[in-house]
Amino acid sequence: MIDLKLPKPTRLEGIIVTIDGPAGSGKTSTAREVAGALDYRHLDSGSLYRAATFSLLRESINVKEWEHLTVSDLDLLNLQILPMDDKIIMSWDQKNISSEIRSAEVTEKVSYVASLPQVRKWLFETQQNLGLNGRLVADGRDMGEVVFPEAEVKIFLTASLEVRARRRLLEYIDPKSHDEMLDDEMKRINKRDLADQNRQHSPLVQAQDAIQVDTTKLTFHQQVKTLLGIIKDLTGIGS
Ligand code: C5P
Repeated sequence: MIDLKLPKPTRLEGIIVTIDGPAGSGKTSTAREVAGALDYRHLDSGSLYRAATFSLLRESINVKEWEHLTVSDLDLLNLQILPMDDKIIMSWDQKNISSEIRSAEVTEKVSYVASLPQVRKWLFETQQNLGLNGRLVADGRDMGEVVFPEAEVKIFLTASLEVRARRRLLEYIDPKSHDEMLDDEMKRINKRDLADQNRQHSPLVQAQDAIQVDTTKLTFHQQVKTLLGIIKDLTGIGS
């Protein structure tokens, strides 16, 4: 019998915490804050898929060609992903693209790009390398299940669709216009969730050993506190 369980790694610097969940569940902002509180590095894996999407769009590669690109083709993109201190800097053609990757155009295409197995393969090693020594809080869709199955703490964040849509709108729209835009935002988020849950490779699922935290009724501060409490209870790490 083949034992597929990975050996427990020896981490030099600290543990790995994974935070997965659907769009708008607060993963990235919570992960950033938790990483800051623990003095850990934060990996926002969604930003890597966004950066890949941005490059494909910017390099004017026809969308019909994307599924045929190989890992070697992807290596030729003009994209740089560099860990710098506790941040991960993404640039395209030497320019920092941290705000461009949040555009509506990228958001609309990113789930398709993330469904392509060669894109996932291409980004897999980069993500694993960032966790080699531990001391990492990684958020995304498949952090606990696929990229860091041996993580010491795995969290799965959820929240109602309406709350997630409201949070997303808050990031970029004047609150006065929320009500009229809410339906459309809920539809967009739901479409992305369905694409992420139903894709063949690394779909969004809760890892069996993940702890689910429903943030529908929690403030941001309570969310962060809850996660830090779980980490402390499970590992003794944090204050
Ligand atoms: O987290 P964010 O909304 O920025 O992620 C953008 C998209 O990247 C997601 O909708 C999903 O399709 C993809 N993604 C993924 N696996 C991850 C992180 C993000 O497929 N680990």
